[in-house]
Amino acid sequence: MKLVELKERKGEFTLQRLGVEPLSPEAIVDGSIMDSSLVVDAIHRLNDATGVKLANYATSLSGHSVIIKKIQMPAMAPEDLSDQIQWEAEQYIPFDINDVRLDYVVLSEGEPGHENMEVLLVAVKRDKVNDYVSVISQAGKTPVLVDVDAFAIQNAYEANYDVDPLKVIALVNMGASVTNINILARGATAFWRDISFGGNQFTEALQREFNLSFDQAERLKRGQPVDRFSAADARSVLDSVSSEMASEIQKTFDFFAATSSEGPVDEIVLSGGCALTPNLQQVLRERFGVPIEMLDPLRRIHYREGDFDRDWLRSIGPMLAVSVGLAIRRAGG
Ligand SMILES: Nc1ncnc2c1ncn2[C@@H]1O[C@H](COP(=O)(O)OP(=O)(O)OP(=O)(O)O)[C@@H](O)[C@H]1O
Ligand SMILES: [Mg+2]
Repeated sequence: MKLVELKERKGEFTLQRLGVEPLSPEAIVDGSIMDSSLVVDAIHRLNDATGVKLANYATSLSGHSVIIKKIQMPAMAPEDLSDQIQWEAEQYIPFDINDVRLDYVVLSEGEPGHENMEVLLVAVKRDKVNDYVSVISQAGKTPVLVDVDAFAIQNAYEANYDVDPLKVIALVNMGASVTNINILARGATAFWRDISFGGNQFTEALQREFNLSFDQAERLKRGQPVDRFSAADARSVLDSVSSEMASEIQKTFDFFAATSSEGPVDEIVLSGGCALTPNLQQVLRERFGVPIEMLDPLRRIHYREGDFDRDWLRSIGPMLAVSVGLAIRRAGG
């Protein structure tokens, strides 16, 4: 679990506080909080370790409980839209509309009374949102924003890079249990999908192959020798999971190519801790044959020398994409 505090001044961000605390893989599974006391503990540890004073917290969700749809509606005034959207949403959301929290943003406006407008609709099961909000409250903080991982990643990317509107760029955030994909075209989100595949699959494969505990397998995955097993022994196991990961991503890209007119992915921008898996980038490079870059979510974010260790920041940077994106949205509006 990560905590990031940013300060915004004239559009520039400065890193104030940063914390990373381990969380058991049983605590949150596929985006659902399974053991809230473990999560509350981790937030307490983050609060203590970082000495954070602010009360307002932002968080985000991912996985099957999040539904995002781009829909066409007749152009209308904002106040009419907020009335209408509930009715409109019912056709697109496979859950009872009373069980979901809805949010939306107008992507492109038509002329009132004439054209259609394009609206991005986000629906999340109400109980899932409540779970995320409640662990923050239980840890003594005030939940003020619940976002979606895939959009937080996009915020982090846009704040740190000049987005090339001529390119189709796939943001691929590979976490522990979920991989968030957000494909940008003409400078805006064109497609997104959460895949239930991530670092845990690599760890579990090592556990099975070498009969290790979760913690041992995590260390071996990072290249540390465990018992009589070396990084070299782990390599073929990791490579076969990497190629499964590549196939999962490929399916999403194929679906995007088949259903959109944007053309193929030109570039992949990776983030998330799982992206650090030895040789995974190489496997993806061979599979996709496009440039692959690691997202640096702190690329344009200032910090005072002495406050944070540069090497530590570099080593955990890829895991901070979601948290940085949340802090940017909250601090920068
Ligand atoms: N150096 C590394 N090499 C390989 N894997 C790593 C490394 N560092 C972290 N990981 C893996 O990255 C994953 C955690 O990444 P991250 O913090 O981005 O995920 P998360 O956002 O907590 O997960 P999720 O969103 O799926 O709940 C874990 O599976 C962890 O084992
Ligand atoms: Mg994540």
